[in-house]
Amino acid sequence: MAESPEQFRGQSRLPRFAEPLRYDLLLRPDLAACTFSGSAAVAVAVSAPTRFLVLNAAELSVDGSSIRFQDVAPTVVTQFEEDEILVIGFGQELPIGEGVVTMNFTGTLNDQMRGFYRSKYDYNGESRNMAVTQFEAADARRCFPCWDEPAFKAKFKLTLEVPTELVALSNMPVVKETVHGPLKTVCYEESPLMSTYLVAIVVGLFDYIESSTLEGTKVRVYTQVGKTSQGKFALDVGVKSLDLYKDYFATPYPLPKLDMIAIPDFSAGAMENYGLVTYRDSALLYDEQLSSASNKQQVAITVAHELAHQWFGNLVTMEWWTHLWLNEGFASWVSYLAVESIFPEWNNWTQFLDETTSGLRLDALAESHPIEVEVNHASEIDAIFDSISYDKGASVIRMLQSYLGADRFQKALASYIKKYAYSNAKTEDLWAVLEEETGEPVKDLMTTWTKQQGYPVIFAKLNGQYLELEQAQFLSDGSSGPGTWIVPMTSCCGSYDVNKKFLLKGKADKIHIKDFAASQTADRGTGQNSWIKLNIDQTGFYRVKYDDELAAGLENAVKANKLSLMDMIGIVEDSYALSVACKQTLTSLLRLLNAYRHESDYTVLSHVTSVCLGVNKISTDATPDLSRDIKQLLIKLLLLAAKRVGWDPKDGESHLDVMLRSLLLLALVKLGHDETIAEGIRRFHIFLEDRKSPLLPPDNRKAAYLAVMRSVSTSSRAGYDSLLKIYRETSEAQEKSRILGSLSSCPDKDIVVEALNFMLTDEVRNQDAFYVLGGISLEGREVAWAWLQENWDHVVKTWPSSSLISDFINSTISPFTSEERAAEVSQFFCTRVKPSFERALKQSLERVRISARWIESIKSEPNLAQTVHQLLLEEM
Ligand code: BES
Ligand code: ZN
Repeated sequence: MAESPEQFRGQSRLPRFAEPLRYDLLLRPDLAACTFSGSAAVAVAVSAPTRFLVLNAAELSVDGSSIRFQDVAPTVVTQFEEDEILVIGFGQELPIGEGVVTMNFTGTLNDQMRGFYRSKYDYNGESRNMAVTQFEAADARRCFPCWDEPAFKAKFKLTLEVPTELVALSNMPVVKETVHGPLKTVCYEESPLMSTYLVAIVVGLFDYIESSTLEGTKVRVYTQVGKTSQGKFALDVGVKSLDLYKDYFATPYPLPKLDMIAIPDFSAGAMENYGLVTYRDSALLYDEQLSSASNKQQVAITVAHELAHQWFGNLVTMEWWTHLWLNEGFASWVSYLAVESIFPEWNNWTQFLDETTSGLRLDALAESHPIEVEVNHASEIDAIFDSISYDKGASVIRMLQSYLGADRFQKALASYIKKYAYSNAKTEDLWAVLEEETGEPVKDLMTTWTKQQGYPVIFAKLNGQYLELEQAQFLSDGSSGPGTWIVPMTSCCGSYDVNKKFLLKGKADKIHIKDFAASQTADRGTGQNSWIKLNIDQTGFYRVKYDDELAAGLENAVKANKLSLMDMIGIVEDSYALSVACKQTLTSLLRLLNAYRHESDYTVLSHVTSVCLGVNKISTDATPDLSRDIKQLLIKLLLLAAKRVGWDPKDGESHLDVMLRSLLLLALVKLGHDETIAEGIRRFHIFLEDRKSPLLPPDNRKAAYLAVMRSVSTSSRAGYDSLLKIYRETSEAQEKSRILGSLSSCPDKDIVVEALNFMLTDEVRNQDAFYVLGGISLEGREVAWAWLQENWDHVVKTWPSSSLISDFINSTISPFTSEERAAEVSQFFCTRVKPSFERALKQSLERVRISARWIESIKSEPNLAQTVHQLLLEEM
């Protein structure tokens, strides 16, 4: 038994001898003073002998003299700031069983977008404060003392005391409201069992619109006063998603109401608080006139994602953050399912390959981490909200679903939700349910994907009548790691009707061609009309490297348009990754890209353009003499499709064609295509005169803004000033982000610095800094890095959140391509590194070294120049 509070110091997990059952919380935010006071009465179950209660508190003043446990005052109260722990010690052992601890506390409404914080908004031309919470991952403890770990589920009964005229929302519906003078006391219904990180409060002035699900759950969207029309789209997607998930998980939405609300200062994109989902403006609000097709998709995906969490995450919660991917990977995967059903014309599952691509790209770094990763301190937890938990997580789920079959998979998920409702689960609990339901060796299979970092590349080679396969861990630095996986393989030969499914269990395997090829037509997968494609529709989380013969067959199949969109994407993505890792020449990548020049589909071209832009960047440093020609070649590849869509929207065109136009215009501007840049500038000037001009719809604005910024310089800065003027005049978050994303994309170094300094002013919300950072171009990378070093102290203070500070690191460091720079960056950070961005820093440095290595290899490619010139001359 612990004898002194000191014994709890330095422990990152709370002891379990006393657990909360029910919180009765009263909070009084003072929006003018930006402070709050509160009191808590927490019913706890004491299950083992103890003299102590050990819980979390951070940046709170807990009034020690107010603390009682069943009327008994403590003998000692200690707060360990570093560990964010509050230890309350009593003179005697606490009786086993239930008791209530009460205490009073005060805190500040901070401006760091975490815990209980204030956000600012304009109301009738005046700046006002609202009070908002953001508790995930471990910041509920900044609002009230609590057992702030996901497995300590309890019931919450909240009461707020706020100015009478304000709207005050929490997870549950209001049961009672009493007005006394300028203040009102609002009491909410008690919640079901839930984790602390999902508790939420929002207090401010809002309007709402309302609808309801088929089951009668009331759904509302709250917006700034007068802007409810911008909430309609999200409301519609929200209601449809809830109806869909209820069927998919075979479990009704667990709460009596669902509110969704736009918050002007918001660190993430959105947060799934139980019954009160918060969003940044741009992820919730959609305006027919002002938003782009891509904004629309983002809103739909975000709403579908957060509402999926109401089951996957809120009803069933990960037992500890190591299993975060159960929350995020699943919500991401399920959101595609919902959006696919609501907007079938978006080809959403093909767009899902964007997620798989980001997962594969990050997980090819030695500095990646396993999906299930040990985490302890709060700052480590924040750092795993990354592409591994989200994108790799979602992708391995898709892989498993495709291996098990959609129906069996859904049934098993529904039983998992039922079994663990109002409780917590670990990754292995899910595997167990899936095994039980399907009889397949799910645990053995999936453990290789979730407990080990990285993924394999499968080398495929034809040897006589056999297709030989061998796996090795794929790493972008060209080495091959130690991993082996159980790989769900699929392959087809000459036609999608002729396919085979099997598990690759060991290092290598071979299959007889006649096992899966209709031998008369198949021609061993290499003849003019035949091909062998592994990883059909890219359902597997791995890459494939084909031997030359097979690769040539596939290149022909791409040219002849024989492949599915997903396979078209997989081939170009794998080929790019293999080039980066120097497993294949840039020359052969360019030849392959050339096979896509007649492609006209958005989903495929979005990957082709991303590869083109990657090639463009590296060639600037790798082959300065040739880089102009490479640019011309890349432009030529995109031009056919770009000419087809043009600048002007066409009546009745599809959502994806609108997306395509926006994508191609932007890519052509980035590649420096003179005509597109000139046309962008021309249209920008028309738009400046008439903000409603149909000549520059929201979808094309980013391209025009970038075109303007590409031609701005210190001596001719009118374009920059005009963009700032639009920025200042608009109140639309999406429009603001388009402008912020363009400002730093200027070849003139002084303007880049000016844009970065502008980012530090009050005119840019801290939540939006990453847009500016994302715009930094190759020409700006040196000044941006110098700027970051100069402003580092201010930056870490202002952006403490792991994801935001990681954005700073990533955007300024990753563009470098030399060992010398990598060394310089390491030197700067050796005394400054913190757990919240340590991995992001290591990953950025690794990327720099990977580029450096790639450049060396490109320099020694004998046929590069000749191939570029030959491809440039080829007829379209
Ligand atoms: N649970 C997260 C929000 C979050 C992120 C909390 C990081 C704490 C740290 C939320 O469900 C989420 O995943 N939001 C995404 C949007 C989604 C569409 C992928 C986001 O914020 O980007
Ligand atoms: Zn999420």
